[in-house]
Amino acid sequence: MRRGKDGGRRVAKAKAAEIGAERIGKSFGTFEALTDVNLTIGRGEFLTLLGPSGSGKTTFLMILAGFEAATRGRLTLDGQDMTQTPAEARAFGMVFQGYALFPHMTVEDNIAFPLKVQRRSAGDIKRRVTEMVEMVGLGGHGHKRPSALSGGQQQRVALARALAYDPPVLLLDEPFSALDKNLRGQMQDEVRRLHRDLGTTFVFVTHDQSEALALSSRVAIFNHGQLQQVAPSREVYERPANRFVAEFLGQINILPLGGVSAGASGTTATFEGQTLTMAAFLGAPTTSFALRPEYMSLHMVAPQDGNAIRAALLDLTYLGATTELALKTPGGTALSLSQPTASLPSSLTPGAEVWVSWAADRGLFL
Ligand SMILES: Nc1ncnc2c1ncn2[C@@H]1O[C@H](COP(=O)(O)OP(=O)(O)O)[C@@H](O)[C@H]1O
Ligand SMILES: [Mg+2]
Repeated sequence: MRRGKDGGRRVAKAKAAEIGAERIGKSFGTFEALTDVNLTIGRGEFLTLLGPSGSGKTTFLMILAGFEAATRGRLTLDGQDMTQTPAEARAFGMVFQGYALFPHMTVEDNIAFPLKVQRRSAGDIKRRVTEMVEMVGLGGHGHKRPSALSGGQQQRVALARALAYDPPVLLLDEPFSALDKNLRGQMQDEVRRLHRDLGTTFVFVTHDQSEALALSSRVAIFNHGQLQQVAPSREVYERPANRFVAEFLGQINILPLGGVSAGASGTTATFEGQTLTMAAFLGAPTTSFALRPEYMSLHMVAPQDGNAIRAALLDLTYLGATTELALKTPGGTALSLSQPTASLPSSLTPGAEVWVSWAADRGLFL
């Protein structure tokens, strides 16, 4: 039983808040860490801020929390101005990479701490702490000190402590980056479940693109303090707004095109003397056509229809379920393919002359 009969769900859902950021800017001396960030985070949304190290993610999160003041711009909470509201009054939950637990306190006392600060009654605190310990799967560990717990368990305590007082917003800054890959996957599932159960607004920072795509309903991508795109996971991956987003979210092949001409039913273009066709909805035609490695398939003989180009296989990297292939076209364009290993002939070796095809509705003009 995760919560009382008339329990946390309704209360927490009612508290989830909408955040608005309007033209937020932040300067440290002459250095501009954030420029004109406009973003609305919906009530109960799970939004991930994704970007390389130094792109301004933590700075933006600290401004949302109230620990840093924006140099420019305005913040709202459920439509009310909160630009000048101090951090204590915002009272957002926070989870960081370093566990930041009190080492001399038990798990239960750590979780109880924010409730004591709020001067809740002893009975209320006891009930809530028991509920939170169960909610994050730490039943039986309540009397332990943090040092007796694994890294993953310590992060569960940090989550429980941050969520104990039903904050309207939970901010998480790279909370799992110190954990190994399997544990990180488990904690990601856990955070998704907590979000589903509680309905609180979650803002999660990561520099790991697969973590961002897996976790959240929408991803906000930062680079050099500027917001590049905000969209659902699938959209940022398949319809990146620009080359930075396309390349940051994983490998992508760029085909340099010539003779691009758009018609009602699609675009035709030439690539190394061959004519290619692309569906009309793949963006305004340009001379750069981008294709994810998994959207292209490999053939040992020329395919009969569809877009196909010839290439030489330079290298194969076996990754278990998939194999990555490095290829080069006769005109010198490097291509990277990701193929299900089971689909490849076992005789395939570097030096092979192969064909690469893809469907006309795949890819994107950048
Ligand atoms: N207190 C500060 N003083 C000066 N520069 C800072 C300060 N905090 C952050 N920066 C700079 O702002 C940029 C963005 O930092 P940060 O928000 O921590 O990036 P991220 O979390 O995306 O890695 C970096 O170049 C960083 O060095
Ligand atoms: Mg950071």
